[in-house]
Amino acid sequence: MATVICSFRLAALVIPLIALSGSARAQIDLFDPVWATMTQQSGGDSPGCRGCHIAPQPSFGPWFGDTREDVLSYFVNGPGSQLVTGCRQSSLAEALGLIDGVQPFMPRDAPLDGRFWRDDPVAGLTELTDLGNWLDTFCF
Ligand code: HEC
Repeated sequence: MATVICSFRLAALVIPLIALSGSARAQIDLFDPVWATMTQQSGGDSPGCRGCHIAPQPSFGPWFGDTREDVLSYFVNGPGSQLVTGCRQSSLAEALGLIDGVQPFMPRDAPLDGRFWRDDPVAGLTELTDLGNWLDTFCF
């Protein structure tokens, strides 16, 4: 009897840990393509945030950080968690144009300077799809 209770407790402890590490890993992998878009130098025809939110030190707008690790933890544990709350309905989704019928406003000044994120099979772009897949990791 004691063994049964014991292994039950162990399972109750271990199973959520496995689930947690699985989603943490998914989140890190799914961030890769989003990071690749974000970290492009901003301006011109770029969809990137580097030079504004992504920089060695705060420069323009809320500062996400400089390295991939900084920026990911800004969204996961830092002040940026407010921007991803709601996932596909979050402020980040809204800013970048993932919500149907809502006009994006980032990168700032787009389309004059910088361009909005898009999915374009011909150009091989999956920027919004990648964003949605990564945002899903905050809701599952
Ligand atoms: C030219 C500099 C510039 C670029 C490039 C830029 N931003 Fe911004 N962004 C700003 C500034 C400045 C603000 C603050 C605007 C305000 O408060 O009115 C801002 C605000 C935001 C906000 C709203 C923050 C909040 O607290 O509501 C989000 C989200 C955002 N930017 C995301 C992005 C992302 C993601 C990118 C890259 C894809 C990007 N921006 C590119 C300058 C920039």
